Amino acid sequence: MDLVALNKVAAAMVAPGRGILAADESSGTIKKRFDAIGVESTPDNRRDYREMLFRSAEAMAKYISGVILYDETIRQNAKDGTPLVKLIEKAGALPGIKVDKGTKPLPFCPGEVVTEGLDGLRERLIEYRTLGAKFAKWRAVIDIGDHGVPSYACVRANTHALARYAALCQDEGLVPIVEPEVLMDGGHDIDRCVEVTRLVLKATFQELFLNRVALEGIVLKPNMAVPGKKSARRATVAEVADKTLRVLKECVPAAVPGIAFLSGGQSDEEATAHLDAINKLGELPWRVTFSYGRALQAAPQKAWSGKLENVAAAQRAFAHRAMMNALATAGQWQADLERKAA
Ligand code: 13P
Repeated sequence: MDLVALNKVAAAMVAPGRGILAADESSGTIKKRFDAIGVESTPDNRRDYREMLFRSAEAMAKYISGVILYDETIRQNAKDGTPLVKLIEKAGALPGIKVDKGTKPLPFCPGEVVTEGLDGLRERLIEYRTLGAKFAKWRAVIDIGDHGVPSYACVRANTHALARYAALCQDEGLVPIVEPEVLMDGGHDIDRCVEVTRLVLKATFQELFLNRVALEGIVLKPNMAVPGKKSARRATVAEVADKTLRVLKECVPAAVPGIAFLSGGQSDEEATAHLDAINKLGELPWRVTFSYGRALQAAPQKAWSGKLENVAAAQRAFAHRAMMNALATAGQWQADLERKAA
């Protein structure tokens, strides 16, 4: 393992003032997003949409460190024949690839799932590396329920798979994004989210250690500590920042170069405000940035709506969200910047 090279890539992924664009929606997920804006999910439309994002010179060159791609996209060419991967590289960002194969129900654990995709993973990593990927992503999904959810079986199965994936990535020269996502569905309060996030992160780092993963060569992609969407007890921005940072400090060793949050269903502005408030809390042991899917793409998707004449407006919307989040990585975002720039 060339840890110096891995660490260099990981550091670039979380470079100051930049974050990651998660554009790795599976075919099913992108169809849902396109349905919402009345666009048919065809390979060409998916290509046009993603090409629009990757050609957003302002956003990509200034604020985006890397892009997570889906298997289809890493193989696709832009309309003029240029591989989409080359567009990302030309903009100065790193191409990455989602390598998990989604979730399946976990036996004897009603309502819980385990992420699959370890079989044949080494061979797929080798191919993705030849296609230009510098890093990979695997998402584990942990739900919070009323009775015994998450189960210990679910936490163990998912964190073990994450660590097996991470070790394979490092062995093949790719930086693993380690994403144990505790979902914000449901009616639990923020303290229950803290408790489950702590359990999941402790288990994740134990598995990473047992599987000999070098922490200097990973990027952690966790959820923030937030109440469930249906919780009656909402949390302030300050409470989210304080509780998120506390649980991360308890669980994430300082050897990890960076933490890049998922947005997980937070509104665009919430995701930015929370990231900003965390970074306003002072000197942190790791770089703290974003790896947002929905919170970066909802606005450009709506602006684009599948029409060529909307491309410039959609690129402006993307650049705006990317800039707001870039400011948040330095704790320099303010709510009135949203109004001024909008
Ligand atoms: P969201 O920011 O929409 O949660 O997506 C990030 C991601 O990559 C989920 O795996």
